[in-house]
Amino acid sequence: MRAKLRRLEADNPALAAEQQKLDGLLASHAAENPELRSDHNRSDKFSPPKLHHINIVSRECDRLLHFYRDVMRMDEMPIELFPRNAEGSSGQGGSNVPICFTTDGHMQMHLATQDLGVAQRSGESINPIGVGPIGHIAYRTDDIDAFKAHLDACGVAYSDYGTRFARDWHQIFFLDPEGVIVEVHAVQPK
Ligand SMILES: [Fe+2]
Repeated sequence: MRAKLRRLEADNPALAAEQQKLDGLLASHAAENPELRSDHNRSDKFSPPKLHHINIVSRECDRLLHFYRDVMRMDEMPIELFPRNAEGSSGQGGSNVPICFTTDGHMQMHLATQDLGVAQRSGESINPIGVGPIGHIAYRTDDIDAFKAHLDACGVAYSDYGTRFARDWHQIFFLDPEGVIVEVHAVQPK
């Protein structure tokens, strides 16, 4: 049943977009119902961020697509599901390098081409598709402003890329204590 749904989503970007909307509604539901949460995050203004994708940096993303689609048997996601604010068209940074997307039905792999100039072009300190092979791991939250306030309170500095990469996502990036780049994003209201 789930495989059927994934195939339908792959053929129908609109369906996948609806699924994304439903995921957002579910996250909002959890955010509005603190009794659904654990003791340590019950009073947060944002619902606990959920693992959304792992981004791998490559010189040639087609090789990675072959591996994750044909060896790991994930489904390829249509690029139309990820409208970008391409570097140059926005004039404010971001990137337009080739990138592929796969999903196991729960989480995604973002298979990006390395772009060493993103941070400099964007006036930010963290480049999420610079040094690999793991570019970054990403979580989704339902309230990016509340999460940023939470990072401020925790003393964690972040690069706020806004929607410079993805037209529909507000993304921020920061480092965990070992230097792994972590993304947290929220889907922008239409
Ligand atoms: Fe990402």
